[in-house]
Amino acid sequence: MEKRRKDQYYRLARIRGYRSRSAYKLQQAIRTYRLISPGHKVVDLGAQPGGWLQVAREVIGPEGLVLGIDIKQIAPLPAGNIRLLKMDVYAEGIADRIIAELNGPADTVLSDLAPSIIGAWDVDHARQVDLARRALEIAEKVLDHKGNALIKLFHGPELKKVQDDAALLFEKSRLLKPKASRPESSEIYFLGLGFKAKWYHPTAKVAD
Ligand SMILES: C[S@@+](CC[C@H](N)C(=O)[O-])C[C@H]1O[C@@H](n2cnc3c(N)ncnc32)[C@H](O)[C@@H]1O
Repeated sequence: MEKRRKDQYYRLARIRGYRSRSAYKLQQAIRTYRLISPGHKVVDLGAQPGGWLQVAREVIGPEGLVLGIDIKQIAPLPAGNIRLLKMDVYAEGIADRIIAELNGPADTVLSDLAPSIIGAWDVDHARQVDLARRALEIAEKVLDHKGNALIKLFHGPELKKVQDDAALLFEKSRLLKPKASRPESSEIYFLGLGFKAKWYHPTAKVAD
């Protein structure tokens, strides 16, 4: 608790009404790389309690749409263009559901998905890598051409391989450690800009 109270981002989040200090990680990434713009459609995987949703909503403005998905219930947020879905990202048909909720492809896929940490480093790393790969699978199905992605990873033996695989999908990519990410944390984010594939989703029912 004491450590938390001294943390500037924790205090700022409380003052400014953000639901998580993580909000500042996304804010810093957007300020540097503009991965979200006004009017964008955004899906946020692992969105509870909702700090990233709040930041994404500030950037997309009233014309955009953000969909937050988590296995845990997310308490409602006041803006009308924030949709919430209680769902496991491993659920079958999740890509179709995202496309239906957004009424089309996403401009940006965010993933701050994280497993419950058990403290056994190799297990935690393996589970995080699996969640990141799942986020990438979903991104491949729902991202629009030229879309962007920000996906949480942990340092470890699989990091380079996931990064290399993910990099193939985007025109530009890099690993990112926002200032708000605690230096002692092994988390790091994969940033992909400019999804290369043309959006094609044969099973999606998109309204005119
Ligand atoms: C670090 S938190 C996200 C914090 C969020 N970005 C924010 O700013 O409020 C990670 C989230 O991933 C979610 N999560 C983990 N595994 C999941 C799964 N299989 N399906 C959906 N959500 C999952 C957890 O429930 C947790 O809420």
